[in-house]
Amino acid sequence: MTRPSPRIALYPGSFDPITRGHIKLISRALTIFDRIIIGIAINISKQPMFSFEERVAFIEDAFPDMPVEVTPLDGLLVHEAQRLHCNAILRGLRSGTDFDYEFRMTSMNSSLNQDIETVFLMSDPADTFISSSLIKEVARFQGDITPFVTPKVADALLHKFSESV
Ligand code: COA
Repeated sequence: MTRPSPRIALYPGSFDPITRGHIKLISRALTIFDRIIIGIAINISKQPMFSFEERVAFIEDAFPDMPVEVTPLDGLLVHEAQRLHCNAILRGLRSGTDFDYEFRMTSMNSSLNQDIETVFLMSDPADTFISSSLIKEVARFQGDITPFVTPKVADALLHKFSESV
């Protein structure tokens, strides 16, 4: 009997930095997929606060001994998914606003490659307001960000903003 091939999902994004919202979503996706590859987009218009290496270190710290890998994404998402032998693209949905954006992106991706499905998981209702840029803004003004990120990310944000004063 042939063994079924592993189900691998590519989870793309900026992850600048990874948040508790992303972490919960990935943990839930690990009950559906055998492996998750987190693709850090390095060539989009956003100017990141953290380097690629820093973002990788935050993700590795959040998922010790788990089937989670990190890779840079440089190019079209569907090409990257194919190159990495992923069966699916994974995305999270927090709100109707996310839906409109995701709908357009998924429609474009499936018109480019019909073999790669996009799988959506709804965010935990408690996390719908979390985003990396809001967390950075709260940290900039010394607000408490510890409920939203790992201790390693919280330390790095604290350090970043203490350097800039
Ligand atoms: N919990 C908390 N926050 C979440 C989240 C979740 N589950 N899911 C998304 N977010 C936040 C992110 O933190 C980010 O917040 P920010 O903007 O405040 O930093 C925001 O939602 C959206 O970011 P993200 O999901 O990281 O997407 P992105 O817009 O940064 O990246 C790519 C989008 C990389 C997937 C897209 O640009 C892409 O595919 N690029 C490759 C080129 C390509 O193929 N283009 C054609 C696609 S049609």
